[in-house]
Amino acid sequence: MKKNPQTALIHAPRKAPQYVSTIQPPLFRASTIIFDNTNALFNRHWTDRYDYSYGTHGTPTTFTLADNIAQLEGGEFCLLAPSGLSAINLVNSCFLSQGDEVWVADNIYGPNMEHLRNLEMRYGITVKVYNPIDVASFQPTEKAKLIWLEAAGSVTLEFPDLNNLVKKAKAHHVLSALDNTWGAGLAFNAFDFGDEHLSVDLTAHALTKYPSGGGDILMGSVVTRDEKLHQQLFRMHALQGISISGDDTAQVQRSLASMQIRYQHQSESTLTLLAWLKQQTEFAQILHPADETSAGHTYWKEICSTEQSAGLVSVIFKPEYHLKDVRHFCDALSLFKLGFSWGGPISLVMLYNLKEMRTLEHTHLQQGLLVRFCIGLEHPQDLIQDIKNALKQLKRQQLE
Ligand SMILES: Cc1ncc(COP(=O)(O)O)c(C=O)c1O
Repeated sequence: MKKNPQTALIHAPRKAPQYVSTIQPPLFRASTIIFDNTNALFNRHWTDRYDYSYGTHGTPTTFTLADNIAQLEGGEFCLLAPSGLSAINLVNSCFLSQGDEVWVADNIYGPNMEHLRNLEMRYGITVKVYNPIDVASFQPTEKAKLIWLEAAGSVTLEFPDLNNLVKKAKAHHVLSALDNTWGAGLAFNAFDFGDEHLSVDLTAHALTKYPSGGGDILMGSVVTRDEKLHQQLFRMHALQGISISGDDTAQVQRSLASMQIRYQHQSESTLTLLAWLKQQTEFAQILHPADETSAGHTYWKEICSTEQSAGLVSVIFKPEYHLKDVRHFCDALSLFKLGFSWGGPISLVMLYNLKEMRTLEHTHLQQGLLVRFCIGLEHPQDLIQDIKNALKQLKRQQLE
Protein backbone atom coordinates (compact mmCIF):
# COMPACT_ATOMS: atom_id res chain seq x y z
CA MET A 1 0.00 0.00 0.00
CA LYS A 2 1.40 3.35 -1.00
CA LYS A 3 1.47 5.69 2.00
CA ASN A 4 1.10 9.44 2.11
CA PRO A 5 4.50 11.19 2.55
CA GLN A 6 3.75 12.15 6.16
CA THR A 7 2.85 8.59 7.14
CA ALA A 8 5.83 7.22 5.20
CA LEU A 9 8.18 9.51 7.09
CA ILE A 10 6.71 8.55 10.47
CA HIS A 11 6.88 4.86 9.67
CA ALA A 12 10.36 4.87 8.16
CA PRO A 13 12.34 1.71 9.07
CA ARG A 14 13.49 2.09 12.66
CA LYS A 15 15.56 -1.03 13.27
CA ALA A 16 19.31 -0.47 13.35
CA PRO A 17 21.20 -2.82 11.02
CA GLN A 18 22.64 -5.60 13.17
CA TYR A 19 25.97 -5.83 11.39
CA VAL A 20 27.16 -2.32 12.25
CA SER A 21 29.74 -2.24 14.98
CA THR A 22 30.65 1.12 16.54
CA ILE A 23 32.89 2.30 19.38
CA GLN A 24 29.94 3.54 21.41
CA PRO A 25 26.80 1.43 21.83
CA PRO A 26 23.66 2.45 19.91
CA LEU A 27 21.52 5.02 21.68
CA PHE A 28 17.91 4.25 22.62
CA ARG A 29 15.56 7.10 23.50
CA ALA A 30 12.25 5.73 24.66
CA SER A 31 9.05 6.43 26.47
CA THR A 32 7.00 3.92 24.43
CA ILE A 33 8.39 0.46 23.75
CA ILE A 34 6.56 -1.26 20.89
CA PHE A 35 5.34 -4.82 21.54
CA ASP A 36 5.46 -7.30 18.66
CA ASN A 37 1.93 -8.57 19.40
CA THR A 38 -0.63 -8.95 22.21
CA ASN A 39 1.09 -12.11 23.39
CA ALA A 40 4.24 -10.11 24.08
CA LEU A 41 2.10 -7.42 25.77
CA PHE A 42 0.21 -9.78 28.09
CA ASN A 43 3.19 -11.99 28.93
CA ARG A 44 5.56 -9.18 29.82
CA HIS A 45 7.20 -9.07 33.24
CA TRP A 46 8.11 -5.45 33.77
CA THR A 47 10.42 -6.31 36.65
CA ASP A 48 12.51 -8.42 34.29
CA ARG A 49 14.95 -5.96 32.77
CA TYR A 50 15.04 -7.73 29.38
CA ASP A 51 11.27 -7.54 29.07
CA TYR A 52 11.41 -3.95 27.95
CA SER A 53 7.99 -2.46 28.47
CA TYR A 54 8.21 1.28 29.10
CA GLY A 55 10.90 3.94 29.09
CA THR A 56 10.89 4.50 32.86
CA HIS A 57 11.72 0.83 33.45
CA GLY A 58 14.91 1.11 31.40
CA THR A 59 16.27 0.76 27.89
CA PRO A 60 19.37 -1.00 26.56
CA THR A 61 21.13 2.38 26.82
CA THR A 62 20.38 2.86 30.52
CA PHE A 63 21.09 -0.80 31.33
CA THR A 64 24.48 -0.60 29.60
CA LEU A 65 25.55 2.35 31.74
CA ALA A 66 24.02 0.81 34.88
CA ASP A 67 26.01 -2.41 34.33
CA ASN A 68 29.20 -0.43 33.86
CA ILE A 69 28.65 1.54 37.06
CA ALA A 70 27.89 -1.65 39.02
CA GLN A 71 31.11 -3.16 37.73
CA LEU A 72 33.12 0.00 38.41
CA GLU A 73 32.02 0.00 42.04
CA GLY A 74 32.39 -3.73 42.62
CA GLY A 75 28.62 -4.28 42.91
CA GLU A 76 26.13 -6.43 40.99
CA PHE A 77 23.02 -4.35 40.39
CA CYS A 78 22.58 -0.67 39.60
CA LEU A 79 19.75 1.77 39.11
CA LEU A 80 20.22 5.18 37.56
CA ALA A 81 18.60 8.38 38.79
CA PRO A 82 18.42 11.93 37.40
CA SER A 83 20.91 13.31 39.96
CA GLY A 84 23.09 12.19 42.82
CA LEU A 85 20.61 13.64 45.29
CA SER A 86 17.71 11.78 43.71
CA ALA A 87 19.72 8.52 44.02
CA ILE A 88 20.20 9.29 47.73
CA ASN A 89 16.51 10.08 48.11
CA LEU A 90 15.61 6.82 46.40
CA VAL A 91 17.49 4.93 49.13
CA ASN A 92 15.85 6.99 51.88
CA SER A 93 12.33 6.64 50.55
CA CYS A 94 12.76 2.94 49.80
CA PHE A 95 14.13 1.80 53.14
CA LEU A 96 12.82 4.24 55.77
CA SER A 97 9.33 3.98 57.25
CA GLN A 98 7.53 5.68 60.10
CA GLY A 99 9.20 4.98 63.45
CA ASP A 100 12.59 4.03 61.95
CA GLU A 101 15.87 5.50 63.10
CA VAL A 102 18.49 6.61 60.59
CA TRP A 103 22.12 7.40 61.46
CA VAL A 104 23.93 10.10 59.51
CA ALA A 105 27.58 11.14 59.60
CA ASP A 106 27.94 14.75 60.70
CA ASN A 107 29.94 15.51 57.54
CA ILE A 108 27.41 13.95 55.14
CA TYR A 109 26.52 15.77 51.92
CA GLY A 110 24.30 18.60 53.26
CA PRO A 111 21.15 18.06 51.14
CA ASN A 112 21.04 14.40 52.25
CA MET A 113 20.84 15.59 55.87
CA GLU A 114 18.19 18.16 54.89
CA HIS A 115 16.13 15.51 53.12
CA LEU A 116 16.28 13.27 56.18
CA ARG A 117 15.34 16.15 58.50
CA ASN A 118 12.35 16.76 56.24
CA LEU A 119 11.31 13.08 56.52
CA GLU A 120 11.79 13.34 60.29
CA MET A 121 9.46 16.31 60.51
CA ARG A 122 6.74 14.85 58.30
CA TYR A 123 6.89 11.08 58.73
CA GLY A 124 8.15 10.41 62.25
CA ILE A 125 11.57 9.10 61.30
CA THR A 126 14.30 9.78 63.86
CA VAL A 127 17.57 11.24 62.56
CA LYS A 128 20.65 10.62 64.71
CA VAL A 129 24.02 12.18 63.94
CA TYR A 130 27.34 10.43 64.57
CA ASN A 131 30.98 11.45 64.34
CA PRO A 132 32.46 9.47 61.42
CA ILE A 133 35.85 9.07 63.05
CA ASP A 134 34.42 7.92 66.39
CA VAL A 135 32.59 4.59 66.13
CA ALA A 136 31.41 4.90 69.74
CA SER A 137 29.19 7.81 68.70
CA PHE A 138 27.15 5.41 66.54
CA GLN A 139 24.73 3.87 69.05
CA PRO A 140 21.95 2.13 67.11
CA THR A 141 18.77 1.22 68.98
CA GLU A 142 16.48 -1.63 67.90
CA LYS A 143 14.66 0.91 65.69
CA ALA A 144 17.78 1.68 63.66
CA LYS A 145 17.26 0.84 60.00
CA LEU A 146 19.89 2.66 58.00
CA ILE A 147 23.28 4.29 58.43
CA TRP A 148 24.69 6.77 55.90
CA LEU A 149 28.44 6.79 55.41
CA GLU A 150 30.52 9.08 53.26
CA ALA A 151 34.22 8.56 52.53
CA ALA A 152 35.71 11.13 52.59
CA GLY A 153 32.96 13.34 54.04
CA SER A 154 31.69 16.43 52.31
CA VAL A 155 33.68 19.65 52.62
CA THR A 156 35.80 18.78 55.70
CA LEU A 157 37.00 15.50 54.13
CA GLU A 158 37.42 13.41 57.28
CA PHE A 159 37.76 9.76 56.31
CA PRO A 160 35.46 7.55 58.42
CA ASP A 161 36.39 4.40 60.28
CA LEU A 162 34.60 2.39 57.59
CA ASN A 163 35.78 -1.00 58.87
CA ASN A 164 34.34 -0.60 62.32
CA LEU A 165 31.24 1.37 61.36
CA VAL A 166 30.20 -1.29 58.85
CA LYS A 167 30.97 -4.12 61.28
CA LYS A 168 28.86 -2.44 63.94
CA ALA A 169 26.02 -1.80 61.49
CA LYS A 170 26.03 -5.46 60.46
CA ALA A 171 26.06 -6.60 64.09
CA HIS A 172 22.90 -4.52 64.69
CA HIS A 173 21.20 -5.48 61.39
CA VAL A 174 21.37 -1.90 60.17
CA LEU A 175 21.61 -1.34 56.41
CA SER A 176 24.76 0.54 55.46
CA ALA A 177 24.59 3.03 52.59
CA LEU A 178 27.71 4.82 51.41
CA ASP A 179 27.80 8.02 49.39
CA ASN A 180 30.53 6.78 47.05
CA THR A 181 30.97 9.97 45.02
CA TRP A 182 34.44 10.79 46.37
CA GLY A 183 35.94 7.30 45.88
CA ALA A 184 33.94 6.85 42.66
CA GLY A 185 34.73 3.11 42.63
CA LEU A 186 38.41 3.96 42.04
CA ALA A 187 39.91 4.90 45.41
CA PHE A 188 38.56 1.75 47.11
CA ASN A 189 36.05 -1.03 46.57
CA ALA A 190 33.00 -0.32 48.72
CA PHE A 191 31.83 -3.91 48.27
CA ASP A 192 35.09 -5.51 49.35
CA PHE A 193 37.30 -3.49 51.64
CA GLY A 194 39.40 -4.13 54.71
CA ASP A 195 41.10 -7.36 55.67
CA GLU A 196 37.81 -9.15 56.28
CA HIS A 197 36.33 -8.39 52.84
CA LEU A 198 33.74 -6.12 54.35
CA SER A 199 31.02 -4.68 52.16
CA VAL A 200 28.49 -1.91 52.47
CA ASP A 201 24.95 -2.87 51.51
CA LEU A 202 24.33 0.03 49.12
CA THR A 203 26.14 2.87 47.47
CA ALA A 204 24.74 6.09 46.08
CA HIS A 205 26.99 7.89 43.62
CA ALA A 206 26.67 11.33 42.06
CA LEU A 207 27.63 10.39 38.50
CA THR A 208 27.43 14.14 37.95
CA LYS A 209 31.02 14.33 39.21
CA TYR A 210 33.74 11.96 37.91
CA PRO A 211 31.74 9.60 35.66
CA SER A 212 30.24 12.53 33.73
CA GLY A 213 33.45 14.54 34.03
CA GLY A 214 32.12 17.42 31.94
CA GLY A 215 30.45 19.59 34.56
CA ASP A 216 27.38 19.55 32.34
CA ILE A 217 25.27 16.49 33.19
CA LEU A 218 23.37 15.55 36.32
CA MET A 219 22.96 11.85 37.13
CA GLY A 220 23.09 9.43 40.04
CA SER A 221 23.20 5.72 40.75
CA VAL A 222 22.37 3.23 43.48
CA VAL A 223 24.43 0.04 43.49
CA THR A 224 24.11 -3.11 45.58
CA ARG A 225 25.20 -6.71 45.50
CA ASP A 226 22.03 -7.90 47.17
CA GLU A 227 19.31 -8.92 44.71
CA LYS A 228 16.53 -8.50 47.27
CA LEU A 229 17.55 -4.94 48.04
CA HIS A 230 17.84 -4.25 44.33
CA GLN A 231 14.32 -5.54 43.66
CA GLN A 232 12.94 -3.29 46.41
CA LEU A 233 14.77 -0.34 44.89
CA PHE A 234 13.71 -1.28 41.37
CA ARG A 235 10.03 -1.21 42.34
CA MET A 236 10.35 2.10 44.22
CA HIS A 237 12.29 3.54 41.27
CA ALA A 238 9.42 2.57 38.94
CA LEU A 239 6.70 3.76 41.36
CA GLN A 240 8.36 7.16 41.63
CA GLY A 241 8.64 7.45 37.86
CA ILE A 242 12.38 8.02 38.09
CA SER A 243 13.86 8.22 34.65
CA ILE A 244 16.83 9.75 32.85
CA SER A 245 17.37 10.86 29.30
CA GLY A 246 18.96 8.45 26.83
CA ASP A 247 21.14 11.26 25.53
CA ASP A 248 22.53 12.08 28.99
CA THR A 249 23.11 8.38 29.63
CA ALA A 250 25.06 8.03 26.39
CA GLN A 251 27.20 11.06 27.31
CA VAL A 252 28.15 9.56 30.67
CA GLN A 253 28.79 6.19 29.04
CA ARG A 254 31.16 7.93 26.62
CA SER A 255 33.02 9.69 29.47
CA LEU A 256 33.56 6.48 31.44
CA ALA A 257 36.39 5.48 29.10
CA SER A 258 38.56 8.34 30.34
CA MET A 259 37.35 8.37 33.93
CA GLN A 260 40.27 6.62 35.60
CA ILE A 261 42.83 8.77 33.76
CA ARG A 262 40.99 11.95 34.76
CA TYR A 263 40.59 10.81 38.37
CA GLN A 264 44.27 9.90 38.60
CA HIS A 265 45.34 13.22 37.09
CA GLN A 266 43.09 15.19 39.42
CA SER A 267 44.31 13.16 42.42
CA GLU A 268 47.96 13.85 41.55
CA SER A 269 47.37 17.56 40.90
CA THR A 270 45.55 17.83 44.22
CA LEU A 271 48.47 16.24 46.06
CA THR A 272 50.81 18.79 44.40
CA LEU A 273 48.53 21.60 45.55
CA LEU A 274 48.24 20.09 49.02
CA ALA A 275 52.04 20.14 49.47
CA TRP A 276 52.16 23.79 48.39
CA LEU A 277 49.12 24.90 50.43
CA LYS A 278 50.72 23.46 53.57
CA GLN A 279 53.59 25.93 53.24
CA GLN A 280 51.38 29.01 53.12
CA THR A 281 50.98 31.10 56.25
CA GLU A 282 47.39 32.27 55.68
CA PHE A 283 45.81 28.93 56.53
CA ALA A 284 45.16 27.48 59.97
CA GLN A 285 44.41 24.01 58.62
CA ILE A 286 44.51 22.04 55.38
CA LEU A 287 42.03 19.20 54.98
CA HIS A 288 42.75 16.23 52.72
CA PRO A 289 42.60 12.57 53.78
CA ALA A 290 46.10 11.83 52.40
CA ASP A 291 47.56 14.39 54.77
CA GLU A 292 48.58 12.83 58.05
CA THR A 293 47.23 15.75 60.07
CA SER A 294 43.72 15.24 58.62
CA ALA A 295 41.15 13.46 60.76
CA GLY A 296 40.70 9.86 59.67
CA HIS A 297 44.01 9.72 57.77
CA THR A 298 44.82 6.29 59.21
CA TYR A 299 41.42 4.94 58.10
CA TRP A 300 42.05 6.35 54.60
CA LYS A 301 45.41 4.56 54.56
CA GLU A 302 43.82 1.27 55.58
CA ILE A 303 41.47 1.21 52.61
CA CYS A 304 42.49 3.54 49.79
CA SER A 305 45.01 3.26 47.04
CA THR A 306 47.38 6.16 47.73
CA GLU A 307 47.46 7.50 44.17
CA GLN A 308 43.68 7.71 44.03
CA SER A 309 42.48 10.39 46.40
CA ALA A 310 40.12 12.53 44.31
CA GLY A 311 40.40 16.20 43.50
CA LEU A 312 39.17 17.97 46.61
CA VAL A 313 41.19 19.89 49.18
CA SER A 314 39.86 22.34 51.76
CA VAL A 315 41.63 25.09 53.69
CA ILE A 316 40.56 26.87 56.85
CA PHE A 317 41.74 30.46 56.92
CA LYS A 318 43.30 31.77 60.12
CA PRO A 319 40.69 33.55 62.30
CA GLU A 320 42.14 37.00 61.48
CA TYR A 321 40.68 36.60 57.98
CA HIS A 322 37.08 37.70 58.05
CA LEU A 323 34.31 36.96 55.60
CA LYS A 324 35.08 40.05 53.49
CA ASP A 325 38.74 38.93 53.18
CA VAL A 326 37.89 35.38 52.17
CA ARG A 327 35.32 36.67 49.70
CA HIS A 328 38.00 38.96 48.30
CA PHE A 329 40.33 35.95 47.94
CA CYS A 330 37.68 33.91 46.09
CA ASP A 331 36.83 36.83 43.82
CA ALA A 332 40.53 37.36 43.02
CA LEU A 333 40.95 33.81 41.68
CA SER A 334 40.85 33.59 37.95
CA LEU A 335 41.28 29.94 36.88
CA PHE A 336 39.24 28.65 39.84
CA LYS A 337 35.63 29.50 39.12
CA LEU A 338 33.11 30.08 41.89
CA GLY A 339 30.54 27.29 41.69
CA PHE A 340 29.14 24.14 43.25
CA SER A 341 30.14 20.61 42.25
CA TRP A 342 33.41 18.90 41.29
CA GLY A 343 34.92 16.29 38.98
CA GLY A 344 34.77 18.45 35.84
CA PRO A 345 37.55 19.92 33.68
CA ILE A 346 37.46 23.39 35.29
CA SER A 347 38.71 23.95 38.82
CA LEU A 348 36.13 25.31 41.22
CA VAL A 349 36.17 27.10 44.55
CA MET A 350 33.45 27.42 47.19
CA LEU A 351 33.44 29.05 50.62
CA TYR A 352 31.60 27.67 53.63
CA ASN A 353 30.78 28.72 57.15
CA LEU A 354 31.48 25.60 59.18
CA LYS A 355 29.43 26.80 62.14
CA GLU A 356 26.28 26.50 60.02
CA MET A 357 27.15 23.03 58.76
CA ARG A 358 27.79 20.78 61.74
CA THR A 359 25.51 19.39 64.44
CA LEU A 360 28.24 18.01 66.74
CA GLU A 361 31.18 19.78 68.40
CA HIS A 362 34.42 19.05 66.55
CA THR A 363 37.70 19.60 68.30
CA HIS A 364 39.71 18.49 65.26
CA LEU A 365 38.56 21.47 63.18
CA GLN A 366 40.07 24.93 63.64
CA GLN A 367 37.89 28.01 63.84
CA GLY A 368 37.78 30.04 60.66
CA LEU A 369 36.24 30.27 57.26
CA LEU A 370 36.60 27.26 55.03
CA VAL A 371 37.33 27.28 51.32
CA ARG A 372 37.10 24.11 49.25
CA PHE A 373 39.08 23.76 46.05
CA CYS A 374 37.89 21.25 43.45
CA ILE A 375 40.79 20.52 41.17
CA GLY A 376 40.06 20.25 37.47
CA LEU A 377 42.27 19.16 34.59
CA GLU A 378 44.41 22.30 34.34
CA HIS A 379 48.17 22.12 34.99
CA PRO A 380 48.71 22.18 38.77
CA GLN A 381 51.43 24.86 38.54
CA ASP A 382 48.95 27.23 36.88
CA LEU A 383 46.47 26.56 39.68
CA ILE A 384 49.14 27.25 42.31
CA GLN A 385 50.01 30.51 40.55
CA ASP A 386 46.31 31.45 40.57
CA ILE A 387 46.05 30.92 44.34
CA LYS A 388 49.39 32.74 44.87
CA ASN A 389 48.05 35.78 42.99
CA ALA A 390 44.79 35.75 44.95
CA LEU A 391 46.67 35.55 48.27
CA LYS A 392 48.85 38.49 47.19
CA GLN A 393 45.75 40.52 46.40
CA LEU A 394 44.29 39.56 49.76
CA LYS A 395 47.41 40.89 51.53
CA ARG A 396 47.42 44.05 49.44
CA GLN A 397 43.80 44.67 50.33
CA GLN A 398 44.51 44.20 54.02
CA LEU A 399 47.26 46.86 53.90
CA GLU A 400 44.98 49.42 52.25
C1 LIG B 1 29.15 13.95 48.06
C2 LIG B 1 28.02 14.30 47.18
N1 LIG B 1 26.99 13.44 47.08
C3 LIG B 1 25.93 13.71 46.31
C4 LIG B 1 25.86 14.88 45.59
C5 LIG B 1 24.61 15.17 44.79
O1 LIG B 1 24.86 15.07 43.44
P1 LIG B 1 23.95 15.86 42.39
O2 LIG B 1 24.53 17.24 42.30
O3 LIG B 1 24.09 15.07 41.15
O4 LIG B 1 22.56 15.86 42.92
C6 LIG B 1 26.91 15.81 45.66
C7 LIG B 1 26.85 17.07 44.89
O5 LIG B 1 27.58 18.00 45.10
C8 LIG B 1 28.01 15.51 46.48
O6 LIG B 1 29.04 16.37 46.61
